[in-house]
Amino acid sequence: MIPIPEIDLPKMRRSCHTAAKILQYVGSHVRPGISTNELDRICEEYTVSLGATSACLGYHGYPKSVCISVNDCVCHGLPDDYVLQEGDIANIDVTCIVEGYYGDTSGMFTVGEVSSEALRLIDVAEKAMYKGIEAIGPGATTGDIGFAINKFVTKNGYTAVRDIGGHGIGRFFHGDPFVPSYGKKGKGTRLVPGTCITVEPMVNETDADVVESGIENSSIKIYHTADKCLSAQFEHTILITEEGCEILTVFEGE
Ligand code: MF3
Ligand code: CO
Ligand code: CO
Repeated sequence: MIPIPEIDLPKMRRSCHTAAKILQYVGSHVRPGISTNELDRICEEYTVSLGATSACLGYHGYPKSVCISVNDCVCHGLPDDYVLQEGDIANIDVTCIVEGYYGDTSGMFTVGEVSSEALRLIDVAEKAMYKGIEAIGPGATTGDIGFAINKFVTKNGYTAVRDIGGHGIGRFFHGDPFVPSYGKKGKGTRLVPGTCITVEPMVNETDADVVESGIENSSIKIYHTADKCLSAQFEHTILITEEGCEILTVFEGE
């Protein structure tokens, strides 16, 4: 008998709801002229005001409260003095801890008016995430998710990032299983009802390599596209159920 990991669902729901609320709040401050450091400060202050803790701050030495990945940055963008410019696109990735549980969600934000190419990439990345989530029926595997994501992304002429992906989450930030954005139906890890994962495809305009750079005093890497093409990503934390799944990182106002 494989033991079902105990998860306090009301607590997990509260954490995920809080992460979604923080994401919406930080995103509402995106405008030309604001620096990513200012958005980080807004994130930290709002997180603390809700009685939550940033899961990013201090995680493997990561020095900020949020990841903000602008334009060609694939993920783990480190907030700094960069001032957002009209036409930029940015992924904001919020992870908080509430009552010992982790909620992890990200979305894309546009700075002023952006190109139609950028808007199409963002649209495909969001739909790719939902394709992955919709692939989680009874008895689904991580391969089913990856297959659905990759099929949709490829059909639209883009590339799904392979080396980085979703993860198990709960009373911990990153755990098994790895949730890839490519795969074969029925392969990978069978998803267990009552556990949580993230679905977080990163979608690039081209099939160029992804290059990594370091962060001082941290083992977290920042990823960019080697050819500087745009990259977009969305992320939800998902509860696996007997029937399929439920998206936990939702916030529709209170
Ligand atoms: N939120 C990211 C994820 O989706 C992880 C960020 S780790 C950090 O898994 F240290 F860079 F914040
Ligand atoms: Co995640
Ligand atoms: Co995240």
